[in-house]
Amino acid sequence: MHDPYSVLVVDDEEPIRRLLVRELVNDRRMVHTAVDAKSARQELRSNQYDIIVLDIRLPDADGLELFTEFKAALPDAEVILITGHGSIDHAVEAMRMGAYDYITKPFALDRLELMLDRAYQRVFLQRENKRLRHSQENERPALPLIGRSGAITHVHYLLSKVAPTNVPVLITGESGVGKDVVARNLHAQSNRADRQLIIKNCAMLQRELVRSELFGHKRGAFTGAAEAKDGLMSLAQKGTLFLDEIGDLPEDVQASLLRVLESKRYRRVGDNEERQADIRFLFATNRNLAEEVANGRFNEALFHRINVFNIHIPPLKERKEDIPLLVEHFLARLCVGHDHCTISASALTQMVDYDWPGNVRELRNVIERSIILSENGAISNQLLPREMAGLEMHGEDPSAEDMTLETMEQNHIRRILNLHGGSRQKAARALGIGRKTLYRKIQKYALLPAHDQRESE
Ligand SMILES: Nc1ncnc2c1ncn2[C@@H]1O[C@H](COP(=O)(O)OP(=O)(O)O)[C@@H](O)[C@H]1O
Ligand SMILES: [Mg+2]
Repeated sequence: MHDPYSVLVVDDEEPIRRLLVRELVNDRRMVHTAVDAKSARQELRSNQYDIIVLDIRLPDADGLELFTEFKAALPDAEVILITGHGSIDHAVEAMRMGAYDYITKPFALDRLELMLDRAYQRVFLQRENKRLRHSQENERPALPLIGRSGAITHVHYLLSKVAPTNVPVLITGESGVGKDVVARNLHAQSNRADRQLIIKNCAMLQRELVRSELFGHKRGAFTGAAEAKDGLMSLAQKGTLFLDEIGDLPEDVQASLLRVLESKRYRRVGDNEERQADIRFLFATNRNLAEEVANGRFNEALFHRINVFNIHIPPLKERKEDIPLLVEHFLARLCVGHDHCTISASALTQMVDYDWPGNVRELRNVIERSIILSENGAISNQLLPREMAGLEMHGEDPSAEDMTLETMEQNHIRRILNLHGGSRQKAARALGIGRKTLYRKIQKYALLPAHDQRESE
């Protein structure tokens, strides 16, 4: 069912080690041995074991101390103790400290075998739980990708073609166009849909730790690496790894990522052992990567490797026919506190006319905000943010050379008021005038829409 698990047997008796290797190794189980504490430590540093079988009486160490040390170094592994006659007390003590079980020499092999399989069950389940916990944070169910524009229809078509393959996909487009939505839908339509989708924003990776976050590290790989750690490659094993803002990946790490894509193998930091990377890669960026390559800011070979299949999502202003559908979608999805939410025809027109520099994200936020502000879930022009109305209704060019001082003052006050969400107190402070003066100017220029005049301060 799963990959074979690995066992380290630490025992100073040669015949026992030989016997256990001969009898316990099968296609589900790998067994390595160590003769004393020193070589056991070495083994644990270079390999990740699932289970440690530890003779509690070793020539060069106190069994209990060693047990505590191993448990701290490999919190995910289980430890089974071998006790001789007279050391059962120790074993009981170790059980209290978190050992999985103990077995007394001489023992029947099949008992140890059963114990090993059970211990591995626990290791496996614990690991799986950890992974689930991690992926739940990331794995919101894929939301529908709304739109009827040619662009979105084409995205749907590309998704259906590329999702079932293992090809890496690069999703491009401005911030807020829906790159996340596309990535989640791609994973949900892929053969890995029942596996985990791990999402990482490369811009958020801690610079000094990027390599370790991606690939994991061996214990002692660098100062501060007191314990071995799994990286994203290990978390995403057999699933999908979505690296967002790939343009922000530091250059030296770009080369390492390229190697993973080419060889489908990776190494933890400080480790010589190669591990398999059975991972579907998705990438996203709001940058123009070809340009970044031309300017020497992005690894050219990596660019070609991840750009095999590109899904580009155009900005919302270039597919305005999607706006009414999106508005309807968010009105239904975000309608809280009202039976149902509606929008007036003129407010919708205003939304279609607007340029949406923040794309769908901005549209979603505008609707959410308007619903909160609305009396009964009905969204009218007046509830829309002022910058939307401002652009449409007062399209003056601030650099116009024939602008009077008065017009300029009027525009400036309007801008400052917008900036402070209509608060006259804050605007007056920002403008360096008294509130009364500001109020007079607002009256004079009729600067605020009717509903704001009612606003009390
Ligand atoms: N076509 C779409 N259909 C439905 N929701 C969308 C669509 N495009 C974007 N959204 C929503 O808009 C917001 C921003 O989208 P997101 O995918 O995070 O953008 P990006 O990753 O490109 O910055 C999210 O709330 C997302 O659910
Ligand atoms: Mg995003």
